[in-house]
Amino acid sequence: MPVEIHRDMAGLKADFTIDQHWDAYTDEEHATWRVLAERQVPLLKDRVVPEFLAHVDALSMGNGMNGGGGVPDFRRLNEVLEAETGWTVVAVPGLVPDAVFFDHLANRRFPATCFIRSMDELDYLEEPDVFHDVFGHVPLLLDPVYADYMQEYGKGGLKADGQGALRRLARLYWYTVEFGLTKSEDGLRIFGAGIASSKGETVFALDDPSPNRIGFDLERVMRTDYRIDDFQETYFVIDGFEALRRATEVDFTPIYARMEAEPDLAPDDVLDTDTVLHRGTGRYHA
Ligand code: PHE
Ligand code: FE
Repeated sequence: MPVEIHRDMAGLKADFTIDQHWDAYTDEEHATWRVLAERQVPLLKDRVVPEFLAHVDALSMGNGMNGGGGVPDFRRLNEVLEAETGWTVVAVPGLVPDAVFFDHLANRRFPATCFIRSMDELDYLEEPDVFHDVFGHVPLLLDPVYADYMQEYGKGGLKADGQGALRRLARLYWYTVEFGLTKSEDGLRIFGAGIASSKGETVFALDDPSPNRIGFDLERVMRTDYRIDDFQETYFVIDGFEALRRATEVDFTPIYARMEAEPDLAPDDVLDTDTVLHRGTGRYHA
């Protein structure tokens, strides 16, 4: 029962991790990974930040080396990751409690699910699987600045938890780590894992006239609700990982306090104060 073993609740440890049970993946599950990776890599070529695909290669995730070209063995990934930036990937059966998630990140451990979607539902995901978690999130953990940002986010999460500010901080994760875009000399590029692991959103986020593309502003982002059930109505654009780090290394405590007085924004709101790179037509969600 491969799916069950990759959601091994019986083997759950105190930190919510499990063994990946890499040997239990079936040929079909490895084939599912290959189909997804072989589809994403060429599509991402001129759309994702260039270091992303270099890191996919360094981790042998897109070709035949790691795990026979199928689901990567976390032990192999960790040999490279740990040596480069001190991160490791740990297996979890599904979503874990917020505090547990933050604690892992704060200690440079990325919790990844290990089950994989089925071959006949390649584009349907009710919850993150190993392709989203590993192909989408892990490559950029080889980038030193991004790697630090993720750790700081984890520490920030533990702190926000005690200040009733988790909802705000979660929006920052959503609009950067999951759905972030960045500027480059050749135009906008993807860095968010939710985009990079999705065929449809890879094209939509960059090429479709429907969504807004707005310059990143910390408070603006932390005010903005998001949709979890469909493509985003607004993408926020950072100037690069250094800029993201600078914008987020400040103490959020006074920011959270100040924000108490500000109303939340809807996912498709555009403000006069926004730096609008593209005003969406809204057509897709209409
Ligand atoms: N600087 C933030 C704080 O003081 C923590 C944080 C860092 C949050 C990086 C997100 C990303 O709470
Ligand atoms: Fe994710």
